[in-house]
Amino acid sequence: MVKRLCGVALWAAGLIVVALSLGTTRLCPQKPKFAINYDESKAGNYTLPNPLVLQNGERVRDAATWTEKRRPELIHLFEENIYGRTPQRRLPGLHWKVFNVDRHALHGLATRKQVMIYFTRNEDGPKMDMLIYIPNSARKPVPLFLCMSFAGLNTIVNDPGIEAGEVWSFTAPWVRMPAAAWVKKYPQAALKFSSDWQVKKVLNDGYGFAAIYYGDLEPDFSGGIKYSVRRLFFKPGQTEPAPGDWGAIGAWAWGLSRGMDYLEADSDVDHHRVIVMGHSRLGKTALWAGAQDTRFAMVVANCSGKAGASLLRHNYGETAKSIYASFPWWFSQNFQRYGDQVDQLPVDAHELIALIAPRPVYLDAAEKDQWADPLGAILAADAAAPVFNLFGEQGLGITKLPPLDQPIMHTIGFHYRPGIHAVTEYDWEQFLRFADMHLKKRN
Ligand code: GCU
Repeated sequence: MVKRLCGVALWAAGLIVVALSLGTTRLCPQKPKFAINYDESKAGNYTLPNPLVLQNGERVRDAATWTEKRRPELIHLFEENIYGRTPQRRLPGLHWKVFNVDRHALHGLATRKQVMIYFTRNEDGPKMDMLIYIPNSARKPVPLFLCMSFAGLNTIVNDPGIEAGEVWSFTAPWVRMPAAAWVKKYPQAALKFSSDWQVKKVLNDGYGFAAIYYGDLEPDFSGGIKYSVRRLFFKPGQTEPAPGDWGAIGAWAWGLSRGMDYLEADSDVDHHRVIVMGHSRLGKTALWAGAQDTRFAMVVANCSGKAGASLLRHNYGETAKSIYASFPWWFSQNFQRYGDQVDQLPVDAHELIALIAPRPVYLDAAEKDQWADPLGAILAADAAAPVFNLFGEQGLGITKLPPLDQPIMHTIGFHYRPGIHAVTEYDWEQFLRFADMHLKKRN
């Protein structure tokens, strides 16, 4: 009950945040009961775990040792200590049905299709609806952005043909409602979430665009486990996650990989050039999906913050303690141990970024989003660089925040822009440039 009330309070706070962030600076849901530091001179000294040292103390000197030995070790450490164990990849009964195909969607710009992905043989069990646009004028198969959305598929782009099904209520997240009614009930939130996407820009640049609603995997509140895909993996009689079990971020990331299972079979899509993208908690999710699943050719994590691209040990903005206190269901229960001793955490964000190597990864941060610790992401990228270097790839090459609106693009890319915690048109322009640089040439 208490947990549920907390969940409600958080969602109510979330609603206020969205409302306030529509026109003004984002107000972050910091918990005043935790000390939050915004003074770089007090961000503290720390020693990062060395990504290039195996647990037995041996050094990693080549790409093969990284891939065969260190990579699996680090995946395991992230599972054990932060996100929880991903129990199993696709289940044997996984299947899908393509529906709602329109070759003249968006005034002829694209072919739209929707795919219902059933995780097991049982079609009454959990399932996930993926919305896909393929640009009509581009040469097939196309590279594609696979994105995870906070809101229903009818908020992605103005296409009256989308069949969006049901979503979770915004203020009572255990209640399902038709997606169309959701948009009517929360018009401002709908507008805010719609502004995350630049579907036409992406299509015009020759990329496909696909979106999954994260609530299809698990609604985002403390009681969400009741309706989560995580239940598929419970042992008989189990009703709550055990210590070490995965959290919601793990489940959302798992959903992105199930989306990839379908994309591998779609001849319109070049499954060797799929970019996984998410914002904020879904940026954390995109990083964790890309870290685990090497089928993703590139990762874009927008304003992903702590437990995303920013170092947990860098004491600036959100902390390990406050994130777990506010969103315990995102994580393995083991993560809680590190609230008061983050220096004991066997991994940090630099190793999450390193797990993407040698694939390109794009990060960004916003000036009015200090909660997400912009510099912490630069420091993490810098400490990830030696792993990229093993493959002959280049990191960011900076240890300070770059000037605003001056993107840096190597195999790791980054920009810092004015404004709030959001995904903007400018952000998308950079994602596209970065994708063009790395993936277009690979056609
Ligand atoms: C909160 C949370 C962040 C998260 C963000 C979001 O602010 O503290 O860690 O990134 O929500 O997902 O919008």
